[in-house]
Amino acid sequence: MKITSEQMTIGPRGPLKGEISPPPDKSISHRAVMFASIARGKSRIEDLLLAADTVSTLNAMKSLGAKIEGYGRPKTVAGFGAMHQNYEITGGGLHGLSEPASFINCGNSGTTTRLLCGLLSGNPFFSVLSGDESLNSRPMKRVIEPLTRMGARIMARESDSRPPIAIRGGGLRGIDYDMPVSSAQVKSALMLAGLYADGETVISEPCTSRNHTEVMLRSMGAEVEEEWENETGDRVGEFNYTNKAHIIKIRKPAEELDPFEIKIPTDFSSAAFFIVGALITKNSEVRIKNVSLNRTRTGLLGALQLMGAKIDFLNVREPGSGPQKEQEAIGDLFVKGAQELKKINIDRSMVPLMIDEIPILCIAAACARGRSVIRGAAELRVKESDRIKAMAAGLAAMGIAVEEFEDGLAVTGGEMRGAKIDSFGDHRIAMAFSMAALAARGQSTINGVEAVGISYPGFFRALKRLLK
Ligand code: S3P
Repeated sequence: MKITSEQMTIGPRGPLKGEISPPPDKSISHRAVMFASIARGKSRIEDLLLAADTVSTLNAMKSLGAKIEGYGRPKTVAGFGAMHQNYEITGGGLHGLSEPASFINCGNSGTTTRLLCGLLSGNPFFSVLSGDESLNSRPMKRVIEPLTRMGARIMARESDSRPPIAIRGGGLRGIDYDMPVSSAQVKSALMLAGLYADGETVISEPCTSRNHTEVMLRSMGAEVEEEWENETGDRVGEFNYTNKAHIIKIRKPAEELDPFEIKIPTDFSSAAFFIVGALITKNSEVRIKNVSLNRTRTGLLGALQLMGAKIDFLNVREPGSGPQKEQEAIGDLFVKGAQELKKINIDRSMVPLMIDEIPILCIAAACARGRSVIRGAAELRVKESDRIKAMAAGLAAMGIAVEEFEDGLAVTGGEMRGAKIDSFGDHRIAMAFSMAALAARGQSTINGVEAVGISYPGFFRALKRLLK
């Protein structure tokens, strides 16, 4: 395996053997920093992810006046610097933020941008959000439109649809909003705005997306009610994979939000690359430690099990069972390879539960028997890159029969051959094809691999260690 700063050459390699602790969860890290900044008092966050995206959120909240201090020794990765560290954040309450002196640089991070749109809409000052080329081309109408309906004054490039975004917040009122597409980022933006709005904010998403905002805000004392519509259209009080719509109600809290303590578990989305990497390489045996097993995140596990994969769950701790800091189920995953996999069909209702894992699911499908079909995933076209196009191009270059649809792709399993792969500067595309390269015949070269630092700074070092 040869890495230059921008491209990686990797031959067929394996097995992957050993234990690994991928970095802390990116979604929870963003939220921990933002939410602690609007609590009243001191929150302690253990193992906050310091990847490029979450550093964007840290810097953003500092520029909004939050008191943020690292403590303890950072966990470092050679060549990258700190990967995670403990932080103490002293929030000045819901109205404790102040107008930033300059524009806020959100880098490559859609989560920073969209959640901040919601939070800043609630705050009576002026702010501007901007980012890199990829971020500034991503659609923002999905948050701008409902937030404007709540009373925020927002302007953005291309008829108020793309960053830079200028916000003058304050004076919000609650709305009833049916999201056309499930999105945790949009839902979270509206929930944050709902904390500042008069009246109740009711949000409905067609299928359940990741629920970290609901879990964390509730733990801080916010009134967050959730209901789901089951298959027969009845309202039920519990999440279930067969449920349809997810309805969330949030009200302006009568009192300030409580500070919290949290230890951030391993990011399932980062673990996913090694789960599939181990499944598709002969004689692999990998144990992935302390992974967040939140059911709104782990749809990939269900998909792989349906494909015939056997994945062992070890040392599982339910939320609240360990030290109070554990808000989500956490456990180790043990995966052996190479396993025989069969095709799968993924439809719209399953997509939000595995939205970031579809690139690596495509690699599993390329190694499976039969033609797998993924539909209802048009959202992938507006992620850090057009992930449908990126996966179709890379798999075709590796000799796999692939068909591209507007809202997904079909992948027919076969023998992969080494190829030149374009990551399109997208961290998850780079990591997905790094795993494919292990199981291909002949060497592959993947460009733009420095993008892994967006979510997983030590990715190649971890891969190298498992390959020893
Ligand atoms: C995220 C939500 C997802 C996901 C992104 C992180 C979050 O986006 O793709 O990487 O932290 O809320 P959508 O739910 O908007 O699709």
